[in-house]
This record gives sequence, C-alpha cells and structure tokens, in this order.
Amino acid sequence: MRVPLVAANWKMHKTAWEARTYLKRLLDLVPPEPGVELAVFPSFPLLPEAARALRGSPVRLGAQNVHPEPAGAYTGEVSVLQLAELGVRYVLCGHSERRKLFFEDDRFVGGKVRAVSAAGLAPILCVGETLEERKTGRAWPVVEGQLALGLEGLGSPGGLVVAYEPVWAIGTGVAAHPADAREMAARIRAWLRDRFGEGSEGVRIQYGGSVKPENAGEFLRLPELDGALVGGASLDPDAFWAIAQTARR
Ligand code: 13P
Repeated sequence: MRVPLVAANWKMHKTAWEARTYLKRLLDLVPPEPGVELAVFPSFPLLPEAARALRGSPVRLGAQNVHPEPAGAYTGEVSVLQLAELGVRYVLCGHSERRKLFFEDDRFVGGKVRAVSAAGLAPILCVGETLEERKTGRAWPVVEGQLALGLEGLGSPGGLVVAYEPVWAIGTGVAAHPADAREMAARIRAWLRDRFGEGSEGVRIQYGGSVKPENAGEFLRLPELDGALVGGASLDPDAFWAIAQTARR
C-alpha cells in the first residue's frame, strides 16, 4: 500500500521568521503518527532553519529545485549533494513554473531526476498540460512526452513521485475536475507499469493545482491518487494540515 504524500510547495514565499512560526504551528497540529506523509518545500535559504525545526518530527523536508550536475561552474545553482547534506528527502523536478519562466526543457528535467535518484533522494517529477493542449485533445500526449524524457535513463523508480499538475489549474483557483485528474493518474500509472514493471507499484502519483481544504477530499479519496502537491493553500499551516487529513487512509 502506498502512503499518501501531501507536500507544501511554498514557492518564493516566507522569511526565516515566518518559516519558524509556520513550522512551530504545523508541528503542534501534526501527531507523531499522522497516517499520511507530509513534506514542506521552502526556498533554499530557509532549508537549514527548516531542517533544524523538523528534526525528529514526522514532517519531511523538500527542495523546490536542483541542478543535474554534481558540482561545477553553475552560478546561482544548487547541487543534490548540498541538498542531501541538509537532510532534504524530496526534490521537485520540472515544476511548470521552472519550465515556463526559466525555460527548463524535458531533457534538462530528466537530468535532475537522474541526479536526485542517484543520490538516494526522491525526485518528484512534475508533469501537466496547458489549457490549450487540453482543449485540443493533446493532454495525454504532452504528459506522456514529459514522462518519457523526464524518466529517460532512470534504472529504477525507487522513491520516485509523479505530480500531475495541469498548468491551467496552478494558482488560478480553478482545480481540475476530479474525474479528469483520475483519468490522467490512471494513464500515468499504466505508463509507469509498462516502463518499470512491478517496480512501479511504489511510485506515488499526486495531483496539484488549486487544492484547498474545501476540495482536497475530492482528489485524495480517489484510489488512483496518492497525495497532493499544494501551493497557495499550503502557506497556512492549519489549511495544509486540513488538506493532509483528507488523505488519511
Ligand atoms: P496552487 O496550489 O497555488 O495552485 O499551486 C500548485 C503548485 O504549483 C504546487 O506545486
């Protein structure tokens, strides 16, 4: 059985003080055995502080990005070893904001996934179509392409998470229809089975895009989904915990 993973992507929000206050409140809310896996993804400068606050707690630490190379002349970038040293467990690879605003392509994203996996951390490969791609019936071919190149050369899917985040649902307040998310998750699952065989059974598939306490249950109840990747609503610890509770099985 897959334990659902509910992840808080803070994006470029929060100062160190705000992060401290948030994590203190979250740890007050979360019991020692939450029945679901929780992870928070602060900006890079907040990671040491967050690591300290989360030590010994059931909440895991994630990073929003990484560079595929182990070290080198890549000004402004961060390596997987640097993340590992901080106790980071999960790393977002190919979030749609990285793809759109920072021109990351599928091959570059694939390099990140391989680097994270090789270091023994867990990559979260983000996939999803634009509204235009959905309207023109290309949602699945687009996602399939992102999977194929994003997971190219990956020997074993151990630890891998796939986040289905339709671009048009991110930060818009308009979530996907649960039936559409369900269909996409089932296709992703079938594709993973085809690609990795039995080893794919442990891969978790999340939904992301305007998840809030009011609609989270509609997604997290679905047997095809193993968690959520939450942006805006995760900035409030009470809302994030309310969302996570709907995933408890
Ligand atoms: P929102 O929950 O704000 O739509 O963001 C989703 C997201 O991008 C999580 O990675």
